[in-house]
Amino acid sequence: MAKVLVTSALPYINGIKHLGNLIGSMLSADVYARFMRAIGNEVLFICATDEHGTPAEIAAHEAGLPVAEYCREQHENQASIYRDFALSFDYFGRSSSPQNHELTNHFYHRLNDAGFIEERSIAQVYSIDDGRFLPDRYITGTCPHCGYENARGDQCENCTRLLEPTDLIDARSAISGSRNLEVRQTKHLFLKLTKLADRVEEWIDSRKDWPLLVSSIAKGWLKEGLQDRGITRDLKWGVPVDRPGFDGKVFYVWFDAPIEYIGATKEWADAAPPGENRDWKRWWYDADDVRYVEFMAKDNVPFHTVSFPATILGSGENWKLVDYIKGFSWLTFYGGKFSTSQKRGIFLDQALAEYPSDYWRYWLVANAPETDDSSFTFSGFAGVCNKDLADTFGNFVNRTLRFCSARFGDAVPAGGAPGEMEEELHDKLRHALTRYTICLEQMRLRNAAAELKELWTIGNVYIDRAAPWTHIKADRDRAAVILRTAINLIRLYSIVGSPIIPDTCAQLREALGVKISEAYWPLTMAAELRALPAGHKFQVPPPLFKKITPEEVADLSARYGGEEQAEAAA
Ligand code: 2FM
Ligand code: ZN
Repeated sequence: MAKVLVTSALPYINGIKHLGNLIGSMLSADVYARFMRAIGNEVLFICATDEHGTPAEIAAHEAGLPVAEYCREQHENQASIYRDFALSFDYFGRSSSPQNHELTNHFYHRLNDAGFIEERSIAQVYSIDDGRFLPDRYITGTCPHCGYENARGDQCENCTRLLEPTDLIDARSAISGSRNLEVRQTKHLFLKLTKLADRVEEWIDSRKDWPLLVSSIAKGWLKEGLQDRGITRDLKWGVPVDRPGFDGKVFYVWFDAPIEYIGATKEWADAAPPGENRDWKRWWYDADDVRYVEFMAKDNVPFHTVSFPATILGSGENWKLVDYIKGFSWLTFYGGKFSTSQKRGIFLDQALAEYPSDYWRYWLVANAPETDDSSFTFSGFAGVCNKDLADTFGNFVNRTLRFCSARFGDAVPAGGAPGEMEEELHDKLRHALTRYTICLEQMRLRNAAAELKELWTIGNVYIDRAAPWTHIKADRDRAAVILRTAINLIRLYSIVGSPIIPDTCAQLREALGVKISEAYWPLTMAAELRALPAGHKFQVPPPLFKKITPEEVADLSARYGGEEQAEAAA
């Protein structure tokens, strides 16, 4: 049993996230965490809301709430949605926690003592009309690198380059829209990435197995040459800087957010129920026996391959560095951007109100933007759900159990012995399961979904060819063997589908009256196909998935702006 630490990039506190955010970090991490648990590893799966920085302040201001209260509410909202999506976090923390405040200042002091922090007086954009400095997202303008017109002061989300507010062309205040801006001097702390660059580079070079998407972003960054980065801001909301003369300043959100991976682990330990001992440090400190895997969208890669590792390396302490990073491209909505402000796209609360979470989970995993962007459309979504979930998986389960119940009653039928067809089935399943297992291990999500579907197809082909309904009169034992095999196959599906569609699989296990430990993964197919003996009772569940009609597709795409988006893209 290995220790596997899994973190998902922390969703920003402001606003409900959309489908792209879900697959780009939390859901993909969940599939992996569930699979890692199933194969018997000790897993700690950590996520949290990313609560600091200008987006939180701006959103709270718009909601007319004090920031702390706004964050508390939004955290609860998000947590409840993630529960409904069956995300199996061991802990879902908050970057505003006291644990994170303490750890963030700890890292700052270590870096400071080691000479990696420098105090500088710098020119910052000050909004005369707003009476304040405009760090990061408080300022928008045109990206000097790619020309994107809505680049933020800290990063261009179009080309992912990091920016300084003073880099922006035609800059304006995000609070008032005012262009009445001037540059004033203010004191800030800088992380000396220039002094840490060699160590970071050496470490990145040692990570030979990273996926191309990730290593090319990391190396591209190094090639441009690392710049010292400002890690404090003139803001009220955030982690206060423990340094004389820095009253009223806080750490930059991208300094404290990744530290919250550790902070949330400490929150998890501090929240242990009486009698349970949770040791947060053994996951993070002197933890060579832990394999640490991070999931994130590509715009997060620079922070996780350069700045956060620089913080850790510069601390001079033996904190855990990431072993493997699974990065994602973008999920688009009809080829365009999901947009919170323009209410375009489908957000997670809306998604759950339309269909159960497993429909979304399956589609997202099957279409994960792993190497390239992928596009969500309602017709594509309906097509995949109808074909794979309803016609292939659901149909196999329902016709098997219904037919068995009608002809043999609600128990696994007795009689007969497996023959050639069962042997052939066994071999096909064994190979497909091996391929599926490898895809999950390697986090190749699209391929994993394809192999899961292949497992379902194998079952369908078997029952079509074996055709128990043709034997029921002349050779009842043969019909019994086929149904017994098929019901055992349903049990197998209820186990192996769990990382991707956990709710449906739990529902199936319930119908079959089987309890299976979270830490179980099938190894020998022969035993799996005999697991439920003759006489074992079951219930016929209602159809597992309902088909999405063309009328529903038209209605959804009209309500969620799919049509306009399709027109704009045409
Ligand atoms: O891009 C984002 O959504 C950030 N909130 C991710 C933070 S990940 C981590 F470092 F905290
Ligand atoms: Zn740009």
